[in-house]
Amino acid sequence: MKETVLLDKKFREMISGEVISKRVDELAEMINRDFAGKEVVFLGILNGAFLFAADLFKRIDLKARISFVKLASYEGTRSSGSVKELIGWNEDIKNTQVIVIEDIVDTGHTLEQIVGELKVRNVASIKVATLLFKPKAYTKKIPIDYVGFEIPNDFVVGYGLDYDGYGRNLPSVYTLVK
Ligand code: IMP
Repeated sequence: MKETVLLDKKFREMISGEVISKRVDELAEMINRDFAGKEVVFLGILNGAFLFAADLFKRIDLKARISFVKLASYEGTRSSGSVKELIGWNEDIKNTQVIVIEDIVDTGHTLEQIVGELKVRNVASIKVATLLFKPKAYTKKIPIDYVGFEIPNDFVVGYGLDYDGYGRNLPSVYTLVK
């Protein structure tokens, strides 16, 4: 059983890099089939989705582009910490079919904000792909079209996901040992 320590916490391997790779193959196959003959723009959500987005995108054989955006806290004088702005948005994405790539959907709050931002920017259609999904934590109604793995409501790291900035380079997904 592979274990690793990040800062003050211990994590145990939950999904190996090999299993992730096979699942990414399957997700790419589904997307290639669903969007055959169409042009798509993948929109990776930074920071966590960078590895999943790269691995998925390599397997796409459509006419496709990729761009990355980030939801950043609004740097204003107001103290409303929940206001976020979308940075890295590129006007070329207007009127295109977008596939949002997330590392993990937990409560769905982030996803809802991203989808809201895309809707006001007039994209033609929005689909969502996530490597990990915590169904028990999800509180939103937005359909998630491509799910890599459904996982329990526990904290995970690796393959792009971090604990306080660490662990993103782990090739497997690890879960917190309580
Ligand atoms: P949500 O808005 O609650 O769906 O959470 C989404 C974001 O929270 C993700 O994009 C991650 O950055 C972070 N997050 C949620 N769960 C985890 C986890 O188990 N490990 C690491 N980050 C997580």
